[in-house]
Amino acid sequence: MQISKRAAGIQPSMTLATSAKAKAMKAAGLDVVGFGAGEPDFKTPPHICDAAVQAVRDGHHGYIVPASGLAELKEAVAGYLARKCGLSYAPPEVCITTGGKYALFEACLSVLNPGDEAVLPAPYWVSYPEQIRFAGAEVVVIQAGAEQGFKITPGQLAAAVTEKTRLFILNSPSNPTGVVYTREELAGLAEVVAGRGVWVFSDEIYNELVYDAVDTCSFVTLRDDLPAQTITFGGASKTWAMTGWRIGWAAGPQEVIGAIGRLQSQSTSGPTSIAQYAAVAALTGPEEPTRAMYEQFDRRRLYMAGRLSAMDGVTCVRPQGAFYTFPDFSALYDRVLGADVEGSKSVAFADKVLDEVHVAVVPGAAFGDDACCRLSFATSMREIEKGLDRLEGFLRG
Ligand SMILES: Cc1ncc(COP(=O)(O)O)c(C=O)c1O
Repeated sequence: MQISKRAAGIQPSMTLATSAKAKAMKAAGLDVVGFGAGEPDFKTPPHICDAAVQAVRDGHHGYIVPASGLAELKEAVAGYLARKCGLSYAPPEVCITTGGKYALFEACLSVLNPGDEAVLPAPYWVSYPEQIRFAGAEVVVIQAGAEQGFKITPGQLAAAVTEKTRLFILNSPSNPTGVVYTREELAGLAEVVAGRGVWVFSDEIYNELVYDAVDTCSFVTLRDDLPAQTITFGGASKTWAMTGWRIGWAAGPQEVIGAIGRLQSQSTSGPTSIAQYAAVAALTGPEEPTRAMYEQFDRRRLYMAGRLSAMDGVTCVRPQGAFYTFPDFSALYDRVLGADVEGSKSVAFADKVLDEVHVAVVPGAAFGDDACCRLSFATSMREIEKGLDRLEGFLRG
């Protein structure tokens, strides 16, 4: 029997693979420090859990109709985007999805045709290239390494856009680099694509995790012509520690949001009803719990980036968003790995760090930059100290 070319062509998520290996080692009794996680280490705030329990008790167990999401939640998302980001979306311009990942997946299927090109800055979040290819389009990567602060320039974007370009994906704050584009930098990129028949996916799932008071904004607010070609993505996972609840959203022009909704009505029928009620509480409830998580992330960020930068041979661009550092270890690869490594050096490096000092990091190859590895600081300060001590010892040799 055979499986389809489309299914065979999909690569498994390398970030999930790393966590799986670290988890298996932990289960075998080893003291593994996990810097692999792409999720907050905090519990979902109690008022959100209470709302879910209440939804069960109130009998909200049926299908949510339409499949594009609970009316109260669409309204809550529209209200949140207006309040936090200055966006003006009406509820029919919002679709509620099974996590932000599925919103992006459905959006790729809704705007891309085979033969189209999608421009993607690297380092990129692991799922973008796979989702683009699944939709039959080609990935055009713009490389932006540590030497340029992991940010693409308007000149690079202009050089990458052709008549075949249908999509440009922007992710700020970024996973894996933690980089945040300033308002001015975003405006430079907007000028290149505005009015050119290119969709912009602005993945703002880390919008609340911006540090150092960076002057940034939501991409779509930059120019009056952007709302017609931009979809803004977000979700409950990162801000409210709700990764397993699987709630995300897409907001954009009604024609494309309608297409996403139709696709959803024939695939998942929308996210779980109980999780949607819980998300209403997240978006409309008290902000103290998210504030407290933010403050912890900020402390850990400064500590981790400071320690990594102080390690000999490691270059670490200080992250200003999300909960990741993306240090460049490439100057140490030959010494640590020997000269004749086959395949990806970041994979070999991450494997060696996990095997020898039981610290889980994610190889940069997963994100299109083999010079680096991703270390998440979504773990306790004690674990961060312990893991960095081990890493430092390992790198000293
Ligand atoms: C940049 C980015 N976008 C989207 C997502 C999707 O998150 P979720 O599907 O949990 O909402 C993630 C999760 O890791 C992410 O890092």
